[in-house]
Amino acid sequence: MTGQVVLVTGASSGFGRLIAETLARRGHRVFAGLREVRGRNEKAAASLEGAGLQVVELDVTDQDSADRAVAAVVRAAGRLDVVVNNAGGIFVGPVESFTAAEAQRQFDVNVLGALRVNRAALPHLREQGSGALIQIGSVAARVTVPFSGLYAASKAALAALTEAWHDELAPFGVESIILDPASYPTNIGVNATMPADHERMAPYGTAFGGYVAAITGHAGQTPADAREVSDAVVRLVETPNGERPRRTVVAPDAQHRAVAAFNRAADAAAAAVTAEMGVAAFTAAR
Ligand SMILES: NC(=O)c1ccc[n+]([C@@H]2O[C@H](COP(=O)([O-])OP(=O)(O)OC[C@H]3O[C@@H](n4cnc5c(N)ncnc54)[C@H](OP(=O)(O)O)[C@@H]3O)[C@@H](O)[C@H]2O)c1
Repeated sequence: MTGQVVLVTGASSGFGRLIAETLARRGHRVFAGLREVRGRNEKAAASLEGAGLQVVELDVTDQDSADRAVAAVVRAAGRLDVVVNNAGGIFVGPVESFTAAEAQRQFDVNVLGALRVNRAALPHLREQGSGALIQIGSVAARVTVPFSGLYAASKAALAALTEAWHDELAPFGVESIILDPASYPTNIGVNATMPADHERMAPYGTAFGGYVAAITGHAGQTPADAREVSDAVVRLVETPNGERPRRTVVAPDAQHRAVAAFNRAADAAAAAVTAEMGVAAFTAAR
């Protein structure tokens, strides 16, 4: 399935940029959503435009921005087939050290960002009777490790929204699916937000330092290629409507097997619970 109209959020770097550029090379009409197109991301925007992509200003923390971006896509292309909700970031540190305001910022981008963009896109997709929402989740939604509790909670929330959208949108011919990557080298680490409250952070200092050293050392031994993720997204975009898997895990073998087994168990639990509740018919599309 080539020639699809795709909007990718957070396309200035990392997975988003790779996804947008790869889709464009394969002949799709790609709209790269970037914030601060005339500021910080000017260079990235020029480079994407040079590669034949169309850049749209899109800050996912702003509903008006999401509405304007989707309207610009539909005006230019006449339709919108796939939204890739990729924009996101990570807050790193002990949960206690974050204020509620900081936690809100983590959720504002990773959870409400997708909510806003999908809210803007869905009237068009429902009217077309086809389309897909692809959320970039994380294996952290399934396996929570210390010092990334806010991030894991945000990705678990995004996963829950994806499931609800999946069942609610199936009657309209619109799919909602999630791709959960393991850890890959992008700019997510350098862009990570640390807690501002150093006093609350201090008691965790030794454990946190040891944790960061362990995880960094391990990642150095097993360098991963971020293209595994962008290639998987491209495969999902090119899968015919109605046939896309609800969940895709992209991870090294052992992690992939473990999380896939978790997902199968979660599906079996959902089948049992929805049957017991008498609502299995509403999740039939699974
Ligand atoms: N890398 C990993 O190991 C990993 C693993 C699992 C899941 N993920 C997920 O993958 C997605 C992409 O992350 P990445 O690893 O590619 O990191 P990245 O290189 O830091 O890219 C993050 C992208 O999100 C954009 N973004 C952040 N806040 C935004 C906002 N308010 N509005 C619009 N765009 C915004 C950034 O734009 P700016 O340049 O303007 O900041 C950037 O383009 C995220 O959802 C992340 O949680 C990453």
